[in-house]
Amino acid sequence: MKKPLRKAVFPVAGLGTRFLPATKAMAKEMLPVVDKPLIQYAVEEARAAGIEQFCLITGRGKIALVDHFDVAFELEATLRGRNKEAELRLLADMKMQPGSIVSVRQQEPLGLGHAIWCARAFIGDDPFAILLPDDLVLSDTPCMKQLAEAYAETGGCVVAVTEVPRDQTNKYGILDIGTDDGRLVEVKGLVEKPKPADAPSNLSIIGRYVLMPEVIGFLATMERGAGNEIQLTDGMAKMIGHVPFHGLRYEGTRFDCGDKLGFLEAQIAYALKRPELVSAVRAFLKKYETVT
Ligand code: G1P
Repeated sequence: MKKPLRKAVFPVAGLGTRFLPATKAMAKEMLPVVDKPLIQYAVEEARAAGIEQFCLITGRGKIALVDHFDVAFELEATLRGRNKEAELRLLADMKMQPGSIVSVRQQEPLGLGHAIWCARAFIGDDPFAILLPDDLVLSDTPCMKQLAEAYAETGGCVVAVTEVPRDQTNKYGILDIGTDDGRLVEVKGLVEKPKPADAPSNLSIIGRYVLMPEVIGFLATMERGAGNEIQLTDGMAKMIGHVPFHGLRYEGTRFDCGDKLGFLEAQIAYALKRPELVSAVRAFLKKYETVT
């Protein structure tokens, strides 16, 4: 019997060095795409997939992320006094169920696998989702919902995957592939950031996962992997053969918002999806096209 997917963890302890100086005193996950912080896209995507319990894995200096999902009583009172109905509705829409969001701290930056292990008490014996807020996916069906539906079909672990150019395999977790029906692929092996010459394929993991709680036991060994970090990919690789394990070629466009260019492209793509902005954005894009 498959347990329903109700929990999600959000690793947000990273220092965001690629976005300095913006991230000197501010969490990178609070950077907005158009007008919404990256973390809020991730939490909304999880909600749309039926997630009911949320855990932020934070670090020092990241308290704004926790505050962002609290009720801002003074702000609401001020907005009410000024009859700002639309803004009040925005806040009401993002209100979390009482007690549904918690945070734990990763005390040392020892890697993504270590961050997930820090959430072990929250995860308990349940399947859980992971969303890396740096990865933004623009799609008709939210990416995590696609994964949750695949999990309902196959059970076990399901990770979102996409083909990357060969020369970029050293930036991602890469799959060794078994059977492949074009949408779901059977995962035979996983390697974290292999050199192009050593990569078993060019099918890479993006920051969306559904995992079985058994991964925690494998991460607990604290074995170091690529970059001398405790890698989630290595913990996941040890589950292959014990639980069903699939990659899902999701529908949608992924933006790597941990990277300046990816982040800028996301701004444009998301602005063009907004009816109130689209024509003005098209107009200024035209203007800059001719600038040399
Ligand atoms: C992490 C994972 C990697 C995955 C990537 C997706 O890497 O370790 O397996 O492919 O996220 O964005 P990071 O981007 O933290 O280096």
